[in-house]
Amino acid sequence: MKPKVAVNGYGTIGKRVADAVQMQDDIELTGVTKTHPDYEGKIANENSYGLYSAIPEKVSDFKESEVEIQGDIHDLLGKSDIVVDCSPGGIGAKNKELYEKKDIKAIFQGGEDHEVAGFSFNTLVNYEEAIDRDFLRVVSCNTTALCRTLSGIHKNFEIEKVRATMIRRGGDPNQDSRGPLNAIIPKLEVPSHHGHDVQTVIPSIEIETLAVKVPTTIMHLHAINIEFDKNLNEEEIISILEETPRVSLIDEGLEIDSTSQLIEVARDKGRKRNDLMEIPIWKEAIGFEENELSFFQAVHQESDVVPENIDAIRAMFDLERDYERAIEKTNKNIKLKKIL
Ligand SMILES: NC(=O)c1ccc[n+]([C@@H]2O[C@H](COP(=O)([O-])OP(=O)(O)OC[C@H]3O[C@@H](n4cnc5c(N)ncnc54)[C@H](OP(=O)(O)O)[C@@H]3O)[C@@H](O)[C@H]2O)c1
Repeated sequence: MKPKVAVNGYGTIGKRVADAVQMQDDIELTGVTKTHPDYEGKIANENSYGLYSAIPEKVSDFKESEVEIQGDIHDLLGKSDIVVDCSPGGIGAKNKELYEKKDIKAIFQGGEDHEVAGFSFNTLVNYEEAIDRDFLRVVSCNTTALCRTLSGIHKNFEIEKVRATMIRRGGDPNQDSRGPLNAIIPKLEVPSHHGHDVQTVIPSIEIETLAVKVPTTIMHLHAINIEFDKNLNEEEIISILEETPRVSLIDEGLEIDSTSQLIEVARDKGRKRNDLMEIPIWKEAIGFEENELSFFQAVHQESDVVPENIDAIRAMFDLERDYERAIEKTNKNIKLKKIL
């Protein structure tokens, strides 16, 4: 029997996870939730996704609107085996009690602390440990990107220290009230929490991060330096990154010089919502100075965590024991191929 999947929170991440669940052949979408009836609810109706009120007291708001609902969160959880909690950061922790009461498995997102699930997940790092788990957290967009690119390098070479600067988008494209509009805002809490978050997945890695927010909505950019215990060369790193699933090396000859051009590629390739679930790395900027590697990677914050959510469901129901086969299956079903 196919595991039945509820998505609690049909927002930026939830709508993408719901679409990805719908594209799988071994799991089934039972429905999605919203707290109020707006255009996203209308689109859920048009997609024939069962829509439920995330807050039972708000059912009447939907009933008075054009947006149709099938019931509330209790009805949805009652017909599901797992819930992917895509509610705003911090709300997932509050929802956990309900999931425990309903005896349902749950996946939380990166806006929650590690402790909410007690296990932070990235397919390339700890898929086998996720098998049969009841709770896990798919780490944030930034941490997912860092885990993908660092994990292969870390498996092959002795890393002394990673230093990375996260140049973060001010808000997602639909967040019209977010900023900055005309400023660069350094995160004055140093180091930033991102390095520690990577360690929740890869505890053996030495990493320190800084973060700034800039006036852009489309992607984050990471500037990464890695110190190794010996001198290496670019080719050794390039061959690892070329083999890493959901990482795309961008060739110099393509003249893709910015995050806006990356998004243009996604648009030209007909990617739904311009999504770029893989992590693009500029190949020409991968460089060594003795034992120190530098490179830039871009992160499409709205979509890179989606495949990991699907892999996680597969692990939690033991639908696939091998992480490479799980990745292959997820990628095939969501039609995720190397972008270039
Ligand atoms: N956006 C990103 O770049 C990004 C990237 C990676 C991870 N994440 C993480 O993913 C999670 C979701 O973020 P998001 O950006 O998708 O948020 P979002 O766009 O604000 O969407 C949140 C959704 O949750 C619903 N919701 C609000 N209150 C709720 C409640 N009490 N119970 C259940 N659902 C509720 C909202 O419904 P209404 O609209 O009807 O109120 C909305 O559909 C967060 O943990 C975040 O940190 C976000």
